[in-house]
Amino acid sequence: TASLFCFSFAVLQALEDGLEKADADPSVKAVMICGENGKFSAGADIRGFSSPNRPVKSLAALVSLIESSKKPVVAAIEGVALGGGLEVALGCHYRVAHVKARMGLPEVTLGLLPGAEGTQRLPRLIGVPAALDMITTGKHIPATEALKLGLVDEVVEENTVEAAIRLANKVIGQPLGPRRLSLKPVPKLPDMEAFLSEARVRVKKQAQGCLAPELCFQAVRAATQMPFADGVRRERELFMVLLSSGQARALQYAFLAERAAQKWTTPGGASWSSATPQPVRSAAVIGLGTMGRGIVTSLVKANIPVVALEQDLEYLNTGRKAVMLLLEREATKMELGAQTLDFHNPARLQFTVDFDSLRDVDLVIEAVFENMALKKEIFHKLSRICKPGALLCTNTSALNIDEIASATSRPQQVIGTHFFSPAHVMRLLEIIYGRHTSPTAIATAVQLAKALKKVGVVVGNCFGFVGNRMMFPYVQQAVFLLEEGSRPEAVDRVLEDFGFKIGPFRMSDLAGLDVGWRSRQGQGLTGPSVPAGTPARQRQGQRYSPLPDLLCESGRFGQKTGKGWYQYERAGGRTATPDPWLHNLLAQYRDTHGIEPRFIDQEEILERCLFSLINEGFAILAEGIASGPEHLDVIYINGYGWPKHKGGPMFYASTVGLPRVLAKLHKYSEAHPDVPGLRPNAFLKKLAAVGNPPIKEWMSYLSQQSSRL
Ligand code: NAI
Repeated sequence: TASLFCFSFAVLQALEDGLEKADADPSVKAVMICGENGKFSAGADIRGFSSPNRPVKSLAALVSLIESSKKPVVAAIEGVALGGGLEVALGCHYRVAHVKARMGLPEVTLGLLPGAEGTQRLPRLIGVPAALDMITTGKHIPATEALKLGLVDEVVEENTVEAAIRLANKVIGQPLGPRRLSLKPVPKLPDMEAFLSEARVRVKKQAQGCLAPELCFQAVRAATQMPFADGVRRERELFMVLLSSGQARALQYAFLAERAAQKWTTPGGASWSSATPQPVRSAAVIGLGTMGRGIVTSLVKANIPVVALEQDLEYLNTGRKAVMLLLEREATKMELGAQTLDFHNPARLQFTVDFDSLRDVDLVIEAVFENMALKKEIFHKLSRICKPGALLCTNTSALNIDEIASATSRPQQVIGTHFFSPAHVMRLLEIIYGRHTSPTAIATAVQLAKALKKVGVVVGNCFGFVGNRMMFPYVQQAVFLLEEGSRPEAVDRVLEDFGFKIGPFRMSDLAGLDVGWRSRQGQGLTGPSVPAGTPARQRQGQRYSPLPDLLCESGRFGQKTGKGWYQYERAGGRTATPDPWLHNLLAQYRDTHGIEPRFIDQEEILERCLFSLINEGFAILAEGIASGPEHLDVIYINGYGWPKHKGGPMFYASTVGLPRVLAKLHKYSEAHPDVPGLRPNAFLKKLAAVGNPPIKEWMSYLSQQSSRL
């Protein structure tokens, strides 16, 4: 009766002992294996994965032992059978599952493959296409689907254990040979070769530089090409490749980082452990532009009734149409009728231009233009109209939360909820507390993130918060590289090869160059407010590039205008092609400013962009804006397309080694003394000086959380 839930050495030993006893005892006719407390097994404990004495080898041996038992063994699957748990079930001769049970081999999502012979047994049981799908995606499947696939023999709605015992009694005496998967051939396909080569292309494309899906594919292919024992050897080899690749460690870090980032604390002493959220039974969204539409969709999907507000009827109509279109699409995707999402019901989703309709909502999310005066006006209104307890959230990308809160009579209820575009798709929600934000408000925003199935990361208030603040020096370097001799397509290529979904220039074109332009105008960096005689490439003694401003002045706002750092097939087009006009502009620009273009290699592009971003991350940690490097990494993986198999920027820095990051920053900073973003941060220097400690120890080297308040 050892609990199978997370394998430990003790569990494996207990199972082995139990089987041996059963085999030796003539009064035992059949064996049933189940988990404890309604869960079969979630596989190995992830924290044990990277440790040297992980029980994989013994797990495979146990699975073989189960399979070779002379008495029928039946698995009773309740709750989940995942990873090694499912591999154990595959060793059994029969499988009975509860209707609510889920099964899967999620190893791939942690950079591994099912290493206890699962890649060899599963294709023999359910065929290559289905097995490949499960093993290369790691998806969980419900019991009903498992039954269709032949993964389980029976699905029951009542007592699974009793049903398994019934089945065991029924099959006593029947031959076990046909039930031993290792002895079965892999079911044939009309054209296995063609299927495999197509599947390989698909898997590679989805993997985006991640090794595990490809090696999972290879392991399953081995099952089609060689006898079981050889396939098992191949599986083990491939497993070892993954284990030592570094990607598995990064993916496991990313998995644990997401958990760690749930635990928020503020320098003021508020924390996840003591704060309690308020219920959110209704919400309002102000502004139905790019962001508001996605936010409304996200709320409706989470079953939270929404009031959607626009500035006038014309905007309201456009916004309503856009929201309805998104919701229709989501409904189709979710394979639900529009009925089930219920968004045609005004009690669930109401459109208005009347602020009075916001009187009773529990929470408001403001997503109007990025303009401080406008936001303050709206928050002033909200503070007068909304009920006393209502949480007032802003979706600003960079503006000061405290200043917005100052327009209200209840700054303790004002908080930043920074969604990412498209808001109904992107998982990240950056949650920004201000000087007066209450712990309850923070906890409520965190709870909202959960309800929306997003990852909420709590951070402090500073220009650009965490994500965009780290992005600024990165994009700045990218532009400086153009000035010095590179091209947008060259820079993007390097960062996309590194694993980013899109490089910085493609990203700027997608987001719209006008956004940053307006923000720089607001900051007095460009436009009529710049004093006459200001050097074109300098602001406040620091290097500045007017290149993005020049593009905007020629009406090149990116995809929306069909031209930006690239050209597109039309306004709103998505296919970027390098633009001779821009190459020309760059050449002229360099001429005008007397810049001698030089060849810039991949290493310099990568290091200047990434290390300046990482450098800013250290500044953020030192200032107490985020509670730990995990928070920054979770933000980058979920909001900025950072390749998960590289664990996030701070984890990546730890793998490069902080002394090396520091040395490179020193080098680039010496070459560009007028670029503060390249000047190594003091916290980074300190960590390098104390001997490059592991990432989980970094925060203990901060002399004390500096108070920003
Ligand atoms: P947008 O320009 O697409 O939409 C803004 C909407 O607000 C417009 O539909 C406008 O009619 C409406 N609006 C303006 N004044 C209003 C008022 N007084 N009452 C009601 N509605 C009003 O802007 P977008 O891109 O959706 O951005 C909204 C906010 O989200 C900004 O603060 C922006 O910085 C932030 N944000 C934008 C991201 C993006 O990728 N576009 C990403 C994350 C945050």
